[in-house]
Amino acid sequence: MTIDVDTKLVGLLGFPLGHSLSPVMHNRAFATLGLNFHYLPIQVSEAHLPTVAAGLACMNFAGYNVTIPHKIRIMAHLDAVDDLARVIGAVNTVVLHEGRATGYNTDGAGYVRALETEGGVTVEGRKVVVLGCGGAARAIAMTLAFRGVGALTLCNRTAEKAHALAADINSRVRPCCGVAPMEPAALEAALAGAEVLINTTSMGMHPQEDRLPLEAGLLHRDLVVSDIVYNPRETRLLREAAARGCRVVHGLGMLVYQGVEGFRRWTGQEAPVEVMFAALREKLGG
Ligand code: ATR
Repeated sequence: MTIDVDTKLVGLLGFPLGHSLSPVMHNRAFATLGLNFHYLPIQVSEAHLPTVAAGLACMNFAGYNVTIPHKIRIMAHLDAVDDLARVIGAVNTVVLHEGRATGYNTDGAGYVRALETEGGVTVEGRKVVVLGCGGAARAIAMTLAFRGVGALTLCNRTAEKAHALAADINSRVRPCCGVAPMEPAALEAALAGAEVLINTTSMGMHPQEDRLPLEAGLLHRDLVVSDIVYNPRETRLLREAAARGCRVVHGLGMLVYQGVEGFRRWTGQEAPVEVMFAALREKLGG
């Protein structure tokens, strides 16, 4: 790798950054295509975010990713925010062009591409159940509504959050979203006739590998079952679903494809998807 005056930089802004997977994924992809780009972790506190955002726009940066805790706050420091990111209310990808910063949210689009590629289903017209109502669920559900999902049902431990998100989707995107309580009888009714189940809760994530977000007996073989958790790579939910004959979609795909969307916007080229998957599998082990 040579960094020279022509190198275009891409950053990851967050605090604290910890062990992010994005640098290795993007740097491997840049190297594979022979692109003179380099991806850098940039740890920045909330107090310094405005200064850093203004500074990056004046430098040899093609753009940057934004992670916790800056995804919402960054929007105030951009020149434009696209419509989907605006309704999601968070930006994870910024493109810099001639000093102008434009914000996007590629989490939902990345998720949908993973679902369509691995799950073999297009989202248009589908009946989808989403478990959980945090930041990731919001990006996914808003994107599904944008992409013409048939009917969306949100289930969350804290029911008020599900009602608030459903109202937001119905009023700001399309009236396609309902709510069901997170209890077995209601989940069974919601899943009857549903084609896709998406877990966005942390149930099943390390160190809670034994936990399930719903009773396994509620899964039926006509469901594509998807989990955004990628640690462990195969969650208990996905194992139970596969054992019942469901198609399953692993969490790593969302991480890769949200990066693929950013890669295309920064470089103007399609990312080498398999190279990015391989880099992450290597980093995560196994
Ligand atoms: P993310 O950004 O990954 O979406 P988050 O915003 O912290 O993370 O959201 C976590 C989701 O997992 C929430 O929907 C949360 O439910 P609450 O809104 O009721 O907090 C859900 N979750 C976390 N732990 C849970 C548990 N033990 N049982 C059920 N849901 C849980």
